[in-house]
Amino acid sequence: MAKLKLVHRCSECGASFPKWSGKCLACGAWNSLVEDVEGPEDSLVTLAAGLALVPPGEATPIGNVDTQLSNPLSTGIGELDRVLGGGLVPGSVTLLGGEPGIGKSTLLLQLLANTTGPTLYVTAEESAQQVRLRADRLGAVSEQLWLLPEMSLPNIVAAIDKIAPSLVVIDSIQTVVDPDLSSAPGSVVQVRGCAHRLVQEAKRRNVSIVIVGHVTKEGGLAGPRVLEHVVDTVLSFEGERHNALRLLRAAKHRFGPTNELGLFEMTETGLSGVPDASQLFLTDRRTGVPGSVVVPTIEGQRPLLVELQTLTNDVNSAVPARRSAQGVDSGRLSMLLAVLERRARISLAGHEVYASVVGGVKLGEPAADLGLCLALVSAISNIPLPADLVVMGEVGLAGEVRQVGHLGQRLNEAARLGFMQAIVPASAPDINVGIKVKRASTLNEAIALAGLTSQQ
Ligand code: TYD
Ligand code: MG
Repeated sequence: MAKLKLVHRCSECGASFPKWSGKCLACGAWNSLVEDVEGPEDSLVTLAAGLALVPPGEATPIGNVDTQLSNPLSTGIGELDRVLGGGLVPGSVTLLGGEPGIGKSTLLLQLLANTTGPTLYVTAEESAQQVRLRADRLGAVSEQLWLLPEMSLPNIVAAIDKIAPSLVVIDSIQTVVDPDLSSAPGSVVQVRGCAHRLVQEAKRRNVSIVIVGHVTKEGGLAGPRVLEHVVDTVLSFEGERHNALRLLRAAKHRFGPTNELGLFEMTETGLSGVPDASQLFLTDRRTGVPGSVVVPTIEGQRPLLVELQTLTNDVNSAVPARRSAQGVDSGRLSMLLAVLERRARISLAGHEVYASVVGGVKLGEPAADLGLCLALVSAISNIPLPADLVVMGEVGLAGEVRQVGHLGQRLNEAARLGFMQAIVPASAPDINVGIKVKRASTLNEAIALAGLTSQQ
């Protein structure tokens, strides 16, 4: 048995140090060092064992490389295919991250049941009975779906050899252990070592492997950087516990774009795709309320109408008033508040400001700037925006309204859902989709077009 020694390992980059410090000396991350134990020859043993598994590579002219091998195979789950750019590529390794209880095991059980050929579900957390009961509820009890309650990596590899599945799910990587590694389960060394080995097995057999990874409360996967490098695709499953809506995104994808959003709803019988997302996001909308605006955003290839809400509250206090942003970048909110103050003479100093995107969507694009500004003006002036209005435009530091992409798609989606008027950048091309288009070249023009009067 190798002698164990205590080290402090960075959960971001995996570097180890004999002493703890607040900052990782290798990658510069703060508060990332965690206690870990390791045997002296850990990494060397796995590296050598791993390399022995992989057939020697051969250099080929790039034109002769067979692209057919990396064609995705549809998973039979539309929203998952959308995010993966068509489906799972044979031999690829995908990491599915998300908070406990969000629905990772549910989604993957549905995926396995939808896949033809023998498939293998390795449950390292729940008992076979628990998984079977869930599968009953999901209608996922298929003849070709094999269940293996196992935590030991060599036994998992042996089962893959025996069953020769086309798809393997490991639930979860944090509970799988390689006895050759002398670290504790869930440690960076174990997680990284096991993931490395699984990647080699996937490539060797051309089998797709999906690995579940729990997200820590700070939002990172255990050993996040380490795992992201190792796998081909990183998916994250998000949502709010009290809301049935679940969002699936690709943070990294070697076989396609990473900007697609998959939408699911958690129901009694598992996860079902959401066909009309805009409709869903606007279901609970109350019109005639000051501070609310509807913005058409583009998620991947798809236009989505979302409601952006703001609330301002006059606080007579010497301390700087609170600003809170949910689903919009807080830096962007601060910038727009400064632009409003300097260019439109609307000051929100001395007011608490809350901005929130309904439904857990994140509005990352600048096209939502103008909507956010108008919502803030609406909130502070206590005048609601017209109920049938959508707003789009980027706002610059000079208070100018700048062009946004995919204007036609955004307007079409708004028209489909019955909106009658839109405020767009003055430079926008002519688009006729049956919506009254109002053009604004500055923030002040937009405020006037929206029927809002400033305080001054
Ligand atoms: P689960 O897939 O176990 O989450 P994870 O693997 O990410 O930890 O899902 C857990 C939650 O989903 C659980 O609280 C119950 C709920 N759920 C449903 O609402 N409907 C269903 O059909 C299933 C299987 C689960
Ligand atoms: Mg689970």
